[in-house]
Amino acid sequence: MRKPILAGNWKMNKTPAEAVEFVRAIRPLIAKYPQVETVVCVPFVSLPAVADALAGVKVGVGAQNMHWAASGAYTGEVSAAMLKGLADYVIIGHSERRQYFGETDEGVNKKIKAALASGLVPILCVGEDLAQNEAGLTESWVSAQVRAAFADITAEQACGVVIAYEPIWAIGTGKTATSEVANRICGLVVRGTVAEIYGEEVAQQIRIQYGGSANEKNIAELMAMPDIDGALIGGASLKVESFVEMVRATAEQL
Ligand code: 13P
Repeated sequence: MRKPILAGNWKMNKTPAEAVEFVRAIRPLIAKYPQVETVVCVPFVSLPAVADALAGVKVGVGAQNMHWAASGAYTGEVSAAMLKGLADYVIIGHSERRQYFGETDEGVNKKIKAALASGLVPILCVGEDLAQNEAGLTESWVSAQVRAAFADITAEQACGVVIAYEPIWAIGTGKTATSEVANRICGLVVRGTVAEIYGEEVAQQIRIQYGGSANEKNIAELMAMPDIDGALIGGASLKVESFVEMVRATAEQL
């Protein structure tokens, strides 16, 4: 069985001091649910303090981006080697990075390779925007994003990637894809594409999250779906009560 994975994507929120306060608060509460893999993806500057505050605790630490190069003249960027030791996970290709910072499928592929080579678990984000959704392009778009992201990646490596299906129209809008629709895209399209590339065995191993206005009210219904293995949570991951409740509700279903 695939272990459920709930990851908070804090985006550009919380100072390092606020980050430490938050993880100290969730630490004892989340420890009660070891059957759920939990991750907090925090801004770069908070990584050292958060990693320190969570040392020895089963709450994973993640970054929200990285560069594909090992080092060099890339002002403002951070490499996988720099993250190593501070983070275990890294979000790659979030729609906000693609939309506001010009990230391409090719760059996403390079970042996944670099993350895997450094032993970081990539959380690869894919998803369509509203216009694509309304034009009936969701399936072809999402499938093409998955294919591009996994170019030249071995089956063995692919098993270590987490994929987050995040429809852009559902991010931060309060609109969630219905659990049936989310499950259909996660299953038929994302897992289906992985199966086409690597075969059914890899497709059954790989974990697929849903993201987009996931919260404490809808998480149980989403997690009850057979092809949804977790969630990438924005707004609701910033509040201790909501995040812990989402972990609890997920654990309750196991
Ligand atoms: P919200 O949960 O705030 O909609 O954000 C989702 C997201 O983008 C997580 O990466």
